[in-house]
Amino acid sequence: MARGVEPVLDLVDLNVHFESRDGKVNAVCHANLTIGKGQVLGLIGETGCGKSVLGQSVLRLLPASARMSGRILFQGTDILALPQSEVRKIRGQLIAFICQNPAEALNPVLRNGTQIMESVKINRKLPRRERRDACLDLLRSLRFTDPEFCMRSYPLQLSGGMKQRVLAAMGMSGRPSLLIADEPTKGLDALVRGHVIATLERFMEATSSSALVITHDLRFASRICDSIAVMYAGEIVERGPFDEVFGHPRHPYLQALIDSQPDRGLHVLKGSTCSLIDLPPHCRFYDRCPKAVQGCREAHPETVFVNSDHEVRCLRIA
Ligand SMILES: Nc1ncnc2c1ncn2[C@@H]1O[C@H](COP(=O)(O)OP(=O)(O)OP(=O)(O)O)[C@@H](O)[C@H]1O
Ligand SMILES: [Mg+2]
Repeated sequence: MARGVEPVLDLVDLNVHFESRDGKVNAVCHANLTIGKGQVLGLIGETGCGKSVLGQSVLRLLPASARMSGRILFQGTDILALPQSEVRKIRGQLIAFICQNPAEALNPVLRNGTQIMESVKINRKLPRRERRDACLDLLRSLRFTDPEFCMRSYPLQLSGGMKQRVLAAMGMSGRPSLLIADEPTKGLDALVRGHVIATLERFMEATSSSALVITHDLRFASRICDSIAVMYAGEIVERGPFDEVFGHPRHPYLQALIDSQPDRGLHVLKGSTCSLIDLPPHCRFYDRCPKAVQGCREAHPETVFVNSDHEVRCLRIA
């Protein structure tokens, strides 16, 4: 986070695990993150590494089998210490959430328009007629060619990408201090993706809100993010200002992720990630790391700062 910027969200030593039949699933381990006012933090990493769990934990949206510890400071208040009734007041109004699975997030028996209008009603004090116009404006800005049809139809009548944009409209229906967007561009073609990104950018500029953006799309991240955090097997392995981290990637996982991009030759990282139930006592990336040395098998790496705001979890750097 840029110095002198007031923090909006501060995760301090956040841990999330699930009790499952197969054992304890360690989805998020000792995560520390800060998002400053008006700043966008990108969260990237392989599938299953814990990005969505981290995002959902901020709004306490996880199922009852989730156990959380640490602190989730939102504008200085620890969300983990609040009763559910207080968390509900924050949800939607102060922190908006665009979730990853539109099919699950939308109610199949309610028209899309009813669901978007409900968000607008909760988040903005507008007369009913203006509410409808606000919904249509939102849908138009998200490139629905026939927003009236979208309003009167049901989620099942929309494609996955359209449902994703309905969720984006609901997330942007208020004036939140923080927007958490979990893969908001998933399933969109290049043209529509560009429009959605531009709309998100305009929204954040207009509302001065901060954002946590979870994505697999590094080009999207490069366009929208001020800072970045990279997760691997439940841990944040590198974080810092976007340009600094991508200009000088230090963790071998991030280096491999960059090399796997189409413009870098599509060098696929071999092997698979370790189980979050059976975590090794040493570096979690050891088995796949092209740069591993003997010491990497002997201890679990702590994070080290390579400069004042660029942090890396790799023994070779310590
Ligand atoms: N309710 C749950 N019970 C048990 N394990 C869970 C539960 N929810 C998530 N997990 C596990 O937590 C880990 C992290 O899941 P998460 O959904 O955060 O991954 P992700 O990084 O968002 O992946 P993707 O990029 O595919 O969306 C996974 O191993 C997942 O199986
Ligand atoms: Mg996810």
